[in-house]
Amino acid sequence: MTRRVFLVGFMGSGKSSFGRRLAAHTGWDFVDTDAEIEQRAGMSVSEIFSTRGEQFFRELEEEVIGEITVGTPTAATTAMKTTVFALGGGAVCRDGAMEHINASGTTFYLRMPPDRLVKRMSEHGRARRPKIAGMNDAQLLAYIQKTLPEREKFYKMANFVVECGGRTDAQILEQILEKL
Ligand code: S3P
Repeated sequence: MTRRVFLVGFMGSGKSSFGRRLAAHTGWDFVDTDAEIEQRAGMSVSEIFSTRGEQFFRELEEEVIGEITVGTPTAATTAMKTTVFALGGGAVCRDGAMEHINASGTTFYLRMPPDRLVKRMSEHGRARRPKIAGMNDAQLLAYIQKTLPEREKFYKMANFVVECGGRTDAQILEQILEKL
């Protein structure tokens, strides 16, 4: 078993990009739960939503998270190897999920201000995310302002809240690394 590091947060907060950079910098493994779900389903997240519905996607998500969190890491296994997991933005937004994930590794909430989330998600970035596909900046900002408060109660249960506002990518990475 490996030590596990989980990145949680809203769509566009950089869970996958920081996760990948963290892994490249340290030599750790990197797993993106959305990519894992796509591989299992043999289709993209957008296709899963449109052909099977969000509920089916959430079931796959829960299954993947259940598998990657099996067992409690011990000091001995922790010394061996680390895997960084980027979790989909909605993956932890149900009762019990954060408690479960916190028990199986170290969790970080990448807390990115709404205006920066909007800037970080390009047209392509929005198109591949079914919940926000086709939104313009104003619509996306309104969606984030409505949804983020509902989701933050889960995200904030992470072991560490990484304040990303006003920080460069390098400073954000540094904040994560210094806690590990
Ligand atoms: C979702 C976030 C997405 C993906 C799916 C649903 C959400 O992941 O799992 O489109 O409900 O917030 P990212 O947070 O990696 O974009």
